[in-house]
Amino acid sequence: MSEVSMREFLFVTDLDNTLVGDDNALKELNQLLEQHRQEYGTKIVYATGRSLTLYRQLTTEKPLLTPDALITSVGTELHLDTSGDACDPQWAKVLSEGWNRELVVATAGHYADLVPQPNSEQGSFKVSYYLTPEAAVEVLPRLESQLKENGLDVKLIYSGDQDLDILPRNGDKGLAVQFLRQKWQIDAVRTVVCGDSGNDIALFNVGEERGIIVGNARSELREWYEANQTDYRYLAKAFCSAGILEGLRHFGFLGN
Ligand code: GLC
Ligand code: MG
Repeated sequence: MSEVSMREFLFVTDLDNTLVGDDNALKELNQLLEQHRQEYGTKIVYATGRSLTLYRQLTTEKPLLTPDALITSVGTELHLDTSGDACDPQWAKVLSEGWNRELVVATAGHYADLVPQPNSEQGSFKVSYYLTPEAAVEVLPRLESQLKENGLDVKLIYSGDQDLDILPRNGDKGLAVQFLRQKWQIDAVRTVVCGDSGNDIALFNVGEERGIIVGNARSELREWYEANQTDYRYLAKAFCSAGILEGLRHFGFLGN
């Protein structure tokens, strides 16, 4: 193994269609990551759009390693202890600055094309809808300016041609990872982030974290990658966990 691969790093990954999607590759990756965690203290973090409820459901369906921290609800909840339900109160405080959930819901309520997602996917700092790509072209710019007019400084994140998340300006997956990196004192260059869709762009967009975009990435992330190429982001050929393995080898985190 090279020197780079014999030190701890922070491994952050999205779940659906990134870590999960190729069962054989997931097993191989799990084994390598668990070994690295035990030998060098590498930290494993999941950053998912799912709520804690839907995350728990996934753990009954797929063999996921227990993470060292869990970021759910598109970065708006941070769980440092994944056995309980508690969200990190410090992170919640950061998110609450300038956030007015009621006004967001009231503003979005005027758009018939926005279909609310189930209650389990609505969070204290996340308001989520389904929206078709055809309607999105017109609705997104209108909604964005309406929210601004109402004095709301929020983030609109559209993923996979169907999901619209409205988040506080201080919240997304990337900002949650920054918060964790600072808490754990881990450099961006020793951090790897992996994703496949729109809500993962924030993971790649914050700093010089090593980025792995899996080969099956959705067009919104692919287009962003093409427009923002640097040598610390890697577009894998392989899909899902096989793409993550390819990327970790590319950056030398797991040997070459
Ligand atoms: C997950 C969440 C959903 C969110 C989507 C995109 O599917 O359950 O609420 O809109 O990710 O971020
Ligand atoms: Mg995904």
